[in-house]
Amino acid sequence: MNKPLTILGIESSCDDTAAAVVRGNDVLASVVYGQTSLHADFGGVVPEIAARAHAEKLDHCIEEALTKADLAFTDLDGIAVTAGPGLIGGVLSGVMCAKGLSAATGLPLIGVNHLAGHALTPRLTDQLTHPYLMLLVSGGHCQFLIVHAHDKFTRIGGTIDDAPGEAFDKTARLLGLPQPGGPSVEKAAETGDAKRFSLPRPLLNQAGCDMSFSGLKTAILRARDSVVAEKGGLTSQDQADLSASFQAAVTDVLIEKTRRALATYLQLDPVKPAFAIAGGVAANQRIRQGLTALCAGLDTDFIAPPLRLCTDNAAIIAYAGIERMAAGEADDLTLSARPRWPLDQRSAPMLGSGKKGAKA
Ligand code: KG4
Ligand code: ZN
Repeated sequence: MNKPLTILGIESSCDDTAAAVVRGNDVLASVVYGQTSLHADFGGVVPEIAARAHAEKLDHCIEEALTKADLAFTDLDGIAVTAGPGLIGGVLSGVMCAKGLSAATGLPLIGVNHLAGHALTPRLTDQLTHPYLMLLVSGGHCQFLIVHAHDKFTRIGGTIDDAPGEAFDKTARLLGLPQPGGPSVEKAAETGDAKRFSLPRPLLNQAGCDMSFSGLKTAILRARDSVVAEKGGLTSQDQADLSASFQAAVTDVLIEKTRRALATYLQLDPVKPAFAIAGGVAANQRIRQGLTALCAGLDTDFIAPPLRLCTDNAAIIAYAGIERMAAGEADDLTLSARPRWPLDQRSAPMLGSGKKGAKA
């Protein structure tokens, strides 16, 4: 049997500076330096601040990952780096760093599409066989992908405006709950009445798997304003009810659209049908429960990788690099950073660009 490849991964496409060492399917070390506090005062990620912080932190992060893995550059087979899509300054920081390391060590350089990193995660964690269906749902992304091979993806739907994580974050801000919004809205919703506010389920009855979440943000704003106008403020029960109503609306949309995406995927007659999720919103218990039940009814395996591998990290980039390298692919020092880089080149470009950066 071939010796498994050992790859250093580097990620800097948004607001996490990350480095990891992966050998085959084993994550030997994964280090993530978040930037949440740097952007906290601005209501979103500030690209210049992000790029500068990546440039300052990348070498420390890589050193820490190698130390944790107890390996040196001479133990590696290659260096994989996110080459897009994302905020261009951040992607450039990572790509330039990886090029410097590749030139200095002679190790092969492998450019990775960040979305491919997410989409291939269930192969890293569960060795899923192709084809499988993937829902990538985070603060910057929301799309259904059928993964046919490490370099072949079909996007069968996605958001036409905001990503759900963005809507969770905005809802938290409107309700005076802490950031990131997903966990705080989920927590508040535990004691809320999801039926108190009737919120829209955008595009629910429209054919296909496309979604829209920006109208839901506006609906929450209106619902909040009418409570405030009536009572002069929000009680914690109001916060809980608004959170629960919002979460129920997002969940209903994601479940119904997943049902349709699964119907399209199952037409391929996969030998072992599987549906996987990735992205920060995948942490939401209500959404997970809904998807688990949906898959159980359709004899489809439901794969939810551990959260540390669902959110942005460099282990998934290293792993995508392993798949590329195993297929005999590599780049050279002409590798360029691509702010937009759709996985499925044939599908129409996605609209909008979220607070967390360009959507692909
Ligand atoms: O994948 P991620 O860490 O970063 C990117 O967006 O790239 O996802 C972060 C997003 C945030 O918008 C956050 O509010 C959301 O995921 N999130 C959640 C939960 N935990 C995090 N959304 C809903 N429920 C959660 N429990
Ligand atoms: Zn991501």
